[in-house]
Amino acid sequence: MPQTVNVELGERSYNIIIDENFCRLGEEVVKVIKPAKITVISDSNIAPLYMDEVKKQFEDLSIETHSYIFKAGEESKSLSQLEEIYNFLFSVKADRKSALVALGGGVTGDLAGYAAASYMRGIPFIQVPTSILAMVDSSIGGKTAVNHPKGKNTIGAFHQPSLVYANLSTLKTLPKEEFACGMAEVIKHGIIKEPCYFSFVRQKTTEIKTLEYQTLSRVVEGSCKIKSAVVSEDERESGVRAILNFGHTLAHALESLTNYKGYRHGEAVGVGMVAACYLGEELLSFDNEDTKKIIETIQSYNLPATFSKFSNEEIIESMMGDKKTEYGTIRFVVPKKIGKVEILAVDNLSAIKNAIDRCRA
Ligand SMILES: NC(=O)c1ccc[n+]([C@@H]2O[C@H](COP(=O)([O-])OP(=O)(O)OC[C@H]3O[C@@H](n4cnc5c(N)ncnc54)[C@H](O)[C@@H]3O)[C@@H](O)[C@H]2O)c1
Ligand SMILES: [Zn+2]
Repeated sequence: MPQTVNVELGERSYNIIIDENFCRLGEEVVKVIKPAKITVISDSNIAPLYMDEVKKQFEDLSIETHSYIFKAGEESKSLSQLEEIYNFLFSVKADRKSALVALGGGVTGDLAGYAAASYMRGIPFIQVPTSILAMVDSSIGGKTAVNHPKGKNTIGAFHQPSLVYANLSTLKTLPKEEFACGMAEVIKHGIIKEPCYFSFVRQKTTEIKTLEYQTLSRVVEGSCKIKSAVVSEDERESGVRAILNFGHTLAHALESLTNYKGYRHGEAVGVGMVAACYLGEELLSFDNEDTKKIIETIQSYNLPATFSKFSNEEIIESMMGDKKTEYGTIRFVVPKKIGKVEILAVDNLSAIKNAIDRCRA
């Protein structure tokens, strides 16, 4: 039986359905929207594997269905790619009663999501995530965006999907290193909110890595519940939603210093979570035994817990963003214990440097 998690956002509420095939996708979509036309958007890796099956779900319901395929990769989250999608939507005469389906990872979801947010001032869209990162993170919460040369995810909108439909069987074709990266966000969810969930993820490494269905569906369901509870509380990230940035302060600095080519996002988050734990030890008496457990867990999913490049000054400058000359504060999500974190504006630079140094290989 499929699992359902509700994302409670008043009139913008929607369900996340976790299933082992695409059989119910069409019927679940028409329960929530009645699209006259659907365009399924997917990337060049995923479309050959799943496009036909997904399209058939809608064609069987006599819905006019089109497909649009873009080149896989972060580079496609661009304004020029977005324009190509608008051109395609005009060419098939998509109107305000049409819907988009994002079939793919976070890149597809962000790109198709923003196309849906902006085309004709907003049309409905459905997330059909196929990477673990998209299933537990990017498909939930309504953040959609493309990149601009001046910054990642800087052109975007909040636009909630009408439904998220995760078919866990698609993970069988996801490259192993991409799976590992998604697990960084899963581990993060446990640390910020749920000690029991963290223990489960820590203990079930083998079952999770071999995609054992029951265990995997508990993991995806657990993470979806944690993320959706946070999003329900603070849809627009004016407060508590920022706890989802646990591990991301150092991660963003490492990604930015390597021009987004040195680390996969989940790898950078792995190191960033360890740094945040060390900072927690200094600032909030976080238990070193828990740091060790977290490091073991990160490594057990083939993610790095250490790094070796860049001086502390370079890293801190990058963390401070544009405020290069004034030594202000840096925002960190710091653990107090597993399941409880605090959002701190840290001005204690020596504590930050110590934490970074302890992550060095
Ligand atoms: N909107 C949000 O809240 C949010 C949150 C986190 C991340 N993101 C964004 O998500 C993106 C990263 O997402 P991602 O890691 O899923 O990247 P991605 O979409 O590029 O997918 C990673 C790679 O795996 C391939 N792939 C995905 N599913 C597959 C499958 N089932 N079988 C075979 N290959 C498959 C893709 O083609 C791609 O090559 C970034 O752009 C990031 O900014 C958004
Ligand atoms: Zn992340």
